[in-house]
Amino acid sequence: MKIGIDQISFYTSQYFLDLKTLAKARGVDPDKYRVGIGQSRMGIPPPDEDIVTMAASAAFRLKERGALDGVENLLLATESGIDQSKAAGLFVHGLLGLPSRCRVVELKQACYSATAALRMAMGLVAMKPQSKVLIIASDVARYELDSPGESTQGCGAVAFTISANPRLVAIDPESGFYADDVMDFWRPNYLSEAQVDGKYSTLIYIKALKEAWKQYAEESGRSLDDFARFCYHIPFTRMAAKAHQKLARGISDEELEQVIGESLIYSREAGNCYSASLYVGITSLFDNCAEDLSGRRIGLYSYGSGCVGEFFSGVVQSGYRTALLKEVHQELLAGRTELTFQQYEDIYNYGIPTDGGEHVFAQYCTGPFRFAGIEAHKRIYESV
Ligand code: HMG
Repeated sequence: MKIGIDQISFYTSQYFLDLKTLAKARGVDPDKYRVGIGQSRMGIPPPDEDIVTMAASAAFRLKERGALDGVENLLLATESGIDQSKAAGLFVHGLLGLPSRCRVVELKQACYSATAALRMAMGLVAMKPQSKVLIIASDVARYELDSPGESTQGCGAVAFTISANPRLVAIDPESGFYADDVMDFWRPNYLSEAQVDGKYSTLIYIKALKEAWKQYAEESGRSLDDFARFCYHIPFTRMAAKAHQKLARGISDEELEQVIGESLIYSREAGNCYSASLYVGITSLFDNCAEDLSGRRIGLYSYGSGCVGEFFSGVVQSGYRTALLKEVHQELLAGRTELTFQQYEDIYNYGIPTDGGEHVFAQYCTGPFRFAGIEAHKRIYESV
C-alpha cells in the first residue's frame, strides 16, 4: 500500500522585512545576505500572529477543500511552543472545528519534528488505511538583534495530510538517520531567542547529512542519479545549496540550480520556518517546477539541531498538479506588506504581557485567525 502526502498548504505572515533594509541598518553589504546567505526577505509575525494562528491558517485552506475529512490525528510540530503543558494543536483543533474523535499531540526536536510526525503518521495510516493524519509544522525563527543569525529569521507553517493512495507523493520505506548529542543550536525555556554556535551548526548539518545519506544509500541501493530533485531543510537557501554540493561533489552551478532551485523559492521569501522548512521546500518545488515530475523520485533531507538528521525519499504521483494550492501560495507571498526597519524592531521588541492581566492586542493583517489577547494567562484566539 502506498502511503504519503495527500495535500499540502503553506502559510506565512502578511509582513516581511527586506534584507536590503536590514543590511543598510546593520552596515552590511547587501550581497552578504542576497548571495552569501541566499535570502531576500524574512517573514515577521505581528503581535496578533503566532504558531497557532499560522498553523490554523495553513490547515484552513485544506479544510475549505474537504481535505481534512477523515482526519483522526493532528500532530503539530514546533520548537516555538506557547505552553509547557497544553498542545498548541488543541487551539488549532478548536479553531478548525475538528471532530472530538481526533487525537492531538505536539512534537519537538528542533527542525526535525515534522519528519518525526510524518514517520508516526505513516504507522498510523498503515494500521488504519481509511484514516488520515493532519501534520502541521509551525514556527517563528528568532535570533538576537544584530547577531549573525538575525538575517536568517523567518516564520511560517505548512499543513499536510498523510493518507493511503496519496495524491502528491508516496513515501519510500527506505530511510537513513543520524542522531548526536551536540550543542549547535538551542533555546532554554527562559529565553525567547535561539542560541546558536552558527559555524558549528553548519558543519553538524553536513555531517548528519553524510551519515544519513550513507545509510539510505546502503538500504536502498540508489545513487544520486536516481532522483529528479532534492529538497533540504532550509535554514537559509545557501545552506541547502552547500549541502547538496557536499553530496554531489563537482556538480556544476547549472545542475545544482536544476535539482534544488525550485525548492528554494518560497524560503528565500519567508526565511527559516524551522520545523516547516523542509515542507516549505517541497511545496515550493511542486508549485514552481515547470517539468512534470509524475513518477519521478525526489530526495528529502530533514535536519533538526541538537541533533537528528534523516534522508528519505518519495515518488511523485501522477496527476499531482491538480491537488496543489499554487495560486493561494503565490497570492499570499505577492500580497504581503513590507515593514520599515523601525516597525521591524518595534514588533521584535513587543513582548506578550506576562502579568496575568487582561490584554487586548491591536489588530494587524493576518490570515483567517488571530491571537486576540490574553486573560488570566489564557491565550484568546478568534476568527477574522
Ligand atoms: P556569518 O558568520 O555572519 O556569515 O553568519 P559569514 O561571514 O560566514 O558569511 C556567510 C557567507 O556569506 C560566506 O560564504 C561569506 O563568504 C559570504 P561561505 O564562506 O559560507 O560560502 N559573504 C558574501 N558573499 C557575497 N558578497 C558579500 C559577502 N560577505 C560575506 N559581500 C551563520 C553565518 C550561518 C553563522 C549565521 O547566519 C547563523 O548563525 N545562522 C543561524 C544558524 C543556522 O542557520 N545554521 C544552519 C545549520 S543548523 C540548522 O539548519 C538548524 C536550524 O534551522 C535550527 C533547528 O534545527 O531548529 C538553524
